[in-house]
Amino acid sequence: MVVTTMTHHRPRPVVLHLLIQIHFVVIVCSLRPSSAGGNHTVAVPPLFPCLSDQASALLRLKRSFATTNESTMAFRSWRAGTDCCGWAGVRCGDAEGRVASLDLGNCRLESGGLDPALFDLTSLENLNLAYNDFNGSQLPSSGFEHLTKLTHLNLSSSSFSGPAPTSIGSLTNLVSLDLSTGFETTELLSNGYVLHVDSNLGSRLIVQNIETLIANLINLTKLHLGRVDLSNIETHWCNVLAKSCPKLQVLSLPYSRLSGSICSSLHSLHSLVVIDLQYNYLSGPIPDFLTNFSNLSVLQLNHNNFEGWISSAIFEHKKLVTIDLHINYEISGYLPNFSTSSNLVNLNVGRTNLSGIIPASIGNLISLRKLGLGASGFFGQIPSSIANLKSLSALEISGKGIIGSIPSWVSNLTSLTTLQFYDCGLSGSLPSFIGDLRYLRNLAVSNCNFSGQIPPYISNLTQMQIILLNSNYISGTMELTSFRKFPDLIALDLSDNNLVVVDGQDNSSLASLPKIAHLSLSGCNMSEFPNFLRHQDEIGSIDLSDNQIHGAIPLWAWETWKDLFFLILANNKFTSIGYSPFLPPQIEVLDLSNNMFEGAIPIPHGSAIMLDYSNNRFSSVPSNFSSHLSDVTLFKASRNNLSGEIPLSFCAGTSIQLLDLSYNNFSGPIPSCLMENVNGMQSLYLNKNQLHGEFPDNIKEYCSFEALDVSGNWIEGQLP
Ligand SMILES: *[C@@H]1O[C@H](CO)[C@@H](O)[C@H](O)[C@H]1NC(C)=O
Ligand SMILES: *[C@@H]1O[C@H](CO)[C@@H](O)[C@H](O)[C@H]1NC(C)=O
Ligand SMILES: *[C@@H]1O[C@H](CO)[C@@H](O)[C@H](O)[C@H]1NC(C)=O
Ligand SMILES: *[C@@H]1O[C@H](CO)[C@@H](O)[C@H](O)[C@H]1NC(C)=O
Ligand SMILES: *[C@@H]1O[C@H](CO)[C@@H](O)[C@H](O)[C@H]1NC(C)=O
Ligand SMILES: *[C@@H]1O[C@H](CO)[C@@H](O)[C@H](O)[C@H]1NC(C)=O
Ligand SMILES: *[C@@H]1O[C@H](CO)[C@@H](O)[C@H](O)[C@H]1NC(C)=O
Ligand SMILES: *[C@@H]1O[C@H](CO)[C@@H](O)[C@H](O)[C@H]1NC(C)=O
Ligand SMILES: *[C@@H]1O[C@H](CO)[C@@H](O)[C@H](O)[C@H]1NC(C)=O
Ligand SMILES: *[C@@H]1O[C@H](CO)[C@@H](O)[C@H](O)[C@H]1NC(C)=O
Ligand SMILES: *[C@@H]1O[C@H](CO)[C@@H](O)[C@H](O)[C@H]1NC(C)=O
Ligand SMILES: *[C@@H]1O[C@H](CO)[C@@H](O)[C@H](O)[C@H]1NC(C)=O
Repeated sequence: MVVTTMTHHRPRPVVLHLLIQIHFVVIVCSLRPSSAGGNHTVAVPPLFPCLSDQASALLRLKRSFATTNESTMAFRSWRAGTDCCGWAGVRCGDAEGRVASLDLGNCRLESGGLDPALFDLTSLENLNLAYNDFNGSQLPSSGFEHLTKLTHLNLSSSSFSGPAPTSIGSLTNLVSLDLSTGFETTELLSNGYVLHVDSNLGSRLIVQNIETLIANLINLTKLHLGRVDLSNIETHWCNVLAKSCPKLQVLSLPYSRLSGSICSSLHSLHSLVVIDLQYNYLSGPIPDFLTNFSNLSVLQLNHNNFEGWISSAIFEHKKLVTIDLHINYEISGYLPNFSTSSNLVNLNVGRTNLSGIIPASIGNLISLRKLGLGASGFFGQIPSSIANLKSLSALEISGKGIIGSIPSWVSNLTSLTTLQFYDCGLSGSLPSFIGDLRYLRNLAVSNCNFSGQIPPYISNLTQMQIILLNSNYISGTMELTSFRKFPDLIALDLSDNNLVVVDGQDNSSLASLPKIAHLSLSGCNMSEFPNFLRHQDEIGSIDLSDNQIHGAIPLWAWETWKDLFFLILANNKFTSIGYSPFLPPQIEVLDLSNNMFEGAIPIPHGSAIMLDYSNNRFSSVPSNFSSHLSDVTLFKASRNNLSGEIPLSFCAGTSIQLLDLSYNNFSGPIPSCLMENVNGMQSLYLNKNQLHGEFPDNIKEYCSFEALDVSGNWIEGQLP
């Protein structure tokens, strides 16, 4: 018997991480002013000179840092025999000569681990080790419990990894706790994926039990756990917070793999000023009671799965400075009529389901610097009152109902650094005034109706970092070497226009081209593998799909692309991978479908997520690839020449949601381990092979299929 069901999941862009170096604007080490001959710390003699045990603990701590220019600078005043209460970054309490504050924040010191000498400073009230480099080491699991007077603990961006010590949870005087790691991101949408340019993918602290960490911190007003891994916390974070930390003003948990929803008990935290939950997996509605938090100033809920109707009253909150909801595809609602008394500086509702007209009153928001209206449900005219917003540095608009040409008032927004029109009905050629926006660094006009040639003035915008012109009707020939004029370019997307993209004449010094992180040239009428890529050793994502590129992938490509995590070569005429069966480890998404590839299926060495080999001439699967399948969610290899028994390695793919091996020559039975191990699998396609035997009888226990097709084989047995 054969069961065939088909389901279609609504495609949802997948957020991937594209690592590039973005350098932080680092505040100067707090020690510098005084060590550079500054005033108070050295000049004012403390009432009680430093106790010797305090000095020796500090000196041991100093020795635990590597000797670098930074440490020499930071510790210049830390000399044995002098009063440690006068050392830079050290402050003693009113009595007894004991250290009450140690501030080494932003000193960029390097150490292999935090020295337990620190825990001898038992009078510490303030400890700041932020922005130093502890080299991915673990925090000592015990010791913090000795610092019972601590009110401020700041270990932000210090490259610690592993478990956050539970002993921090006993510091009941804590008012501020910062274990976060800072980050900066840029987003690009490509081929249905949100690529996420990220400044920091390094080590993470892990909190297993949020209750142990915060249950006793009743005086906590600031909690910063950005980038701490909270994916395994055992209790509902939201209820624990609401119950334990009634005085909380700053709740900052971005990027911490949080799931669940915002609980109703959170309404008791009405002193909240900052709610930053961006880049998580949160779902459920955005509660109305947030509107009642009278001091709420920052609401960042972007990049989650929130859903439902959002009250437009939240946008009218008088104290709100930032409201960012973007990338929450299922939040619906309307923008309100904005009043002149609003304090909004950042407003972003991009890639939500917000709809309606964009109110002309948006021109009342004169403090706005970033405005993101990229929701496809908006229609009508873009109000020209936006031209009043002289401080705007970023403007992002979309909506298929938004038609006409790019309005001329955009030229009045002379501070723009980012201009984006996507998924819109705007047409005509790109206006020349864009060439006058001299601070412009990011230009994206994607998936609209623009036509004409790429305007020549573009080449005068030499400061550009991101140029995305994909999915329009732009025509002409584009030479890749002409991008030499943009030394800072990190992302280029010319896909799906009427363009012909060629390498260009001047390939004399390819090495002098900008180092690009993201290149998308899908449907660009290319017939040769671009030489342009030869020196792109910082590239993270490449899309060359829908061209007529033939032959082998050059060996230099695999040797050069050390950071590549996203490679789309679908719909070309490639015949050879040009590399051994295991590809470089960091590739997460690989789409080789609809080519003429032969030989063994190449599998990325590391933890790939999506692999598509469909419709090629692959004839074998590597003999043991089970250790490379742990994170794969989609594996498609239909319509190839694969034969033999279905490899048992597939049983290791416990994350696989879709496995498609249809239209091959696989023979033998369906492995029963496939049923056991892939119990999260939703779709399994084994149709049109030469499979024999009974259907594994353990399917009943594990059946969670939404689609299962074994037709066109010789399989017997009854399915439940
Ligand atoms: C040093 O003292 C002078 C005069 O008292 C003051 O103007 C200056 O701001 C102080 N500098 C620092 C770094 O505290
Ligand atoms: C350290 O300082 C010395 C002298 O100022 C300088 O020559 C050297 O380049 C510096 N080293 C680093 C790594 O900055
Ligand atoms: C932690 O210290 C860093 C660097 O000094 C600072 O930027 C950050 O705001 C501090 N965190 C808190 C919660 O004060
Ligand atoms: C940092 O860690 C790396 C690898 O674990 C090690 O090789 C290096 O020596 C460490 N550096 C310091 C300063 O401890
Ligand atoms: C919390 O703060 C209050 C007022 O500052 C103080 O009296 C109390 O002792 C603190 N509670 C704890 C557990 O530290
Ligand atoms: C809002 O802030 C003001 C001033 O800091 C403070 O007096 C007031 O109590 C705060 N309101 C709430 C609900 O916390
Ligand atoms: C907001 O506060 C008002 C007055 O305290 C109250 O009547 C209302 O129900 C609250 N709204 C929400 C959504 O909690
Ligand atoms: C999007 O909003 C419209 C109303 O504007 C609503 O009909 C539709 O169900 C919403 N879609 C989703 C996915 O929330
Ligand atoms: C904004 O005002 C216009 C008329 O001034 C009105 O038609 C519209 O319903 C108002 N929108 C909202 C969301 O209040
Ligand atoms: C744009 O600026 C020009 C010149 O400064 C001015 O005449 C025009 O009214 C402005 N346009 C809008 C829509 O504000
Ligand atoms: C955009 O182009 C498409 C395809 O050519 C066309 O169907 C549509 O009407 C155009 N929309 C506008 C607003 O010009
Ligand atoms: C580029 O800038 C130069 C100098 O400002 C100017 O003369 C030239 O016309 C500009 N080219 C284009 C195509 O706008």
